[in-house]
Amino acid sequence: MPYISEDKINEVKDQIDIVNLISEYIDLKQSGSNYIGLCPFHNEKTPSFTVSSQKRIFHCFGCGEGGDAISFIMKKENLSYPEAIQFLADKLGIFLETGKVDKELYEHRKILYAINNEAKLYFFHNLLTNTIPKKYIKERGLDRTFINKYMIGYATGNAQGLLNHLLKKGYKVEDMIELGLVKKSSKSNSLYDAFRNRLIFPITDIRKNIIGFGGRTLVDDRAKYINSPESLIYHKSNNIYGVGNLQNASKKNKIILVEGYMDVISLSNNGIDYCVASLGTALTKEQAKLISRYSKNIYICYDGDDAGIKAAERAMEIFAELNINPYIVQIPDGLDPDDYVKKYGKNAFDNLLENSLNPILYKYRNLLNSYNLKDIDQKVEFLEKLAKLLSDIESKLTRDEYISRFSKDLDIDNESLLQEVDKISNNMNKKDTSNLLKVDKKIYNSNKTNMKLKLIESLRFVLFNNPIANRIIEESDFLKNETKYWTLCLEIIQNINLNDDLKHQIQSLNLDSDIEKIFNKVLKIKDFTEYTNIDSANKYINSLRVEGLIYKRDELKEQFSLLEENENLTDDLKIVYSNLAMDILKLNKEIKKFDKN
Ligand code: CTP
Ligand code: MN
Repeated sequence: MPYISEDKINEVKDQIDIVNLISEYIDLKQSGSNYIGLCPFHNEKTPSFTVSSQKRIFHCFGCGEGGDAISFIMKKENLSYPEAIQFLADKLGIFLETGKVDKELYEHRKILYAINNEAKLYFFHNLLTNTIPKKYIKERGLDRTFINKYMIGYATGNAQGLLNHLLKKGYKVEDMIELGLVKKSSKSNSLYDAFRNRLIFPITDIRKNIIGFGGRTLVDDRAKYINSPESLIYHKSNNIYGVGNLQNASKKNKIILVEGYMDVISLSNNGIDYCVASLGTALTKEQAKLISRYSKNIYICYDGDDAGIKAAERAMEIFAELNINPYIVQIPDGLDPDDYVKKYGKNAFDNLLENSLNPILYKYRNLLNSYNLKDIDQKVEFLEKLAKLLSDIESKLTRDEYISRFSKDLDIDNESLLQEVDKISNNMNKKDTSNLLKVDKKIYNSNKTNMKLKLIESLRFVLFNNPIANRIIEESDFLKNETKYWTLCLEIIQNINLNDDLKHQIQSLNLDSDIEKIFNKVLKIKDFTEYTNIDSANKYINSLRVEGLIYKRDELKEQFSLLEENENLTDDLKIVYSNLAMDILKLNKEIKKFDKN
């Protein structure tokens, strides 16, 4: 195994969700803030195997086995430490760069963290020694302890305060510029602090490194907030404000997602310290994943204005993609969480949480509000929309539950609502089919020549003994359905000696002419070193994966079109038919994901 940088190892550790990971091996059920299941390492009938998503560890109270995601994989997949890292990195789509460049990057990153940390201390010191920010904090009703907890700071009006401070500490201007702490004026080329006259909110990652800052103006500057730019250490879409504090949050079975810095701090000030903020931008899937690692009970509590409501609905859809049903908390009168909790107190806020709605009830309530049910035409339209909403629910059990609940609530006949929903579901299946075809055109089709190219390419990696040739063989498995040569060629390779003249060896093996042709192509390369390289093997594995998925998808599509031609499907086949459609859609989604990368 090559050297894997600590940085990369941390990236893997940060991103892996231990509950999801272990769920791939055993069934886990939530129990309080933990998950339990039957231990995969010893035989048992009652579950004593526990996984904590916050602590990110597992432990079996039966056999004593325990550890983190990496030790789980080492044990379960029988891998060494670096292999387990590689295994998890592949799962996460993290590319393990290796070598000198990576090491330099790592060192540079360390310097950037150090500069940000120094800046944090500088701002913090300013806050303690100036009356302006202290007065502001007091006016906003914040307790002093929260200054410490969130390391809030202050940037004075001094245009070179931080610059000079960091210079004195021996840091380079170019690094300060890279972090967005210092700017260069385009006219005079002079240097100045980016944050001036602002309250400063340091942004940390889950390991509490300072990765960036937000600054709120205290002098009514036109830009209410300015934030650190993207940098080597700050990726907005992958981070969430407040995550560093979740580990010791008090009520871990819940997480509240808010919009702003002040909302997190103000709720914390009121004893609600399980909050994170997406910082006013649209929530990304990475952020949603990050949050869901701490709890699956997520309360979206965005501002009560139109923008906030829209953003909450978008966030709801993002969580739905992760199969998480968040609760939507609605704050009345267009207030934000900070305003609300200050005005009405913690109990009132807890009430809001209790009255929050899951996505279905939320959408139902919105529908109710947008139609006048006394008007016949409007009522029909309402019912159509409602049926559509219900038909989107995947689980039949859940769907039926809501159907009976809503029909009671609306005082309408359960059966007719049910029929309406079924009608839409059937139409939807048809629509899904035409969608399938639409997506297909965009996604390249696998074909025989492509398969042959893959065959040759895979063989090269194996022939030249790539360190991860075994994984290439694994991922190429689908080739064996398409070309009968794959397994055969692998066997032949075992009899080839890399140290002897390869062409000569092939000739002397007296192979079938088709196979000889394949090997001639395999050997027709100028430089084989690319095939011994682990990075290029990793890249190639990614492309094999897509090809494998496309292959599987196309197989399912063939089955699907057979059923499609049949007009009189039995009930059983109808289920097969819609399951196939679902599987194809899922595969298409996965393929598209690769396409984007
Ligand atoms: N935001 C930003 N840039 C802006 C406005 C807002 O980055 N020009 C982000 C900030 O992270 C802010 C969040 O969006 O915390 C929410 O914005 P807003 O509701 O306007 O600010 P509040 O957090 O409510 O701040 P305050 O209460 O101090 O006005
Ligand atoms: Mn506010």
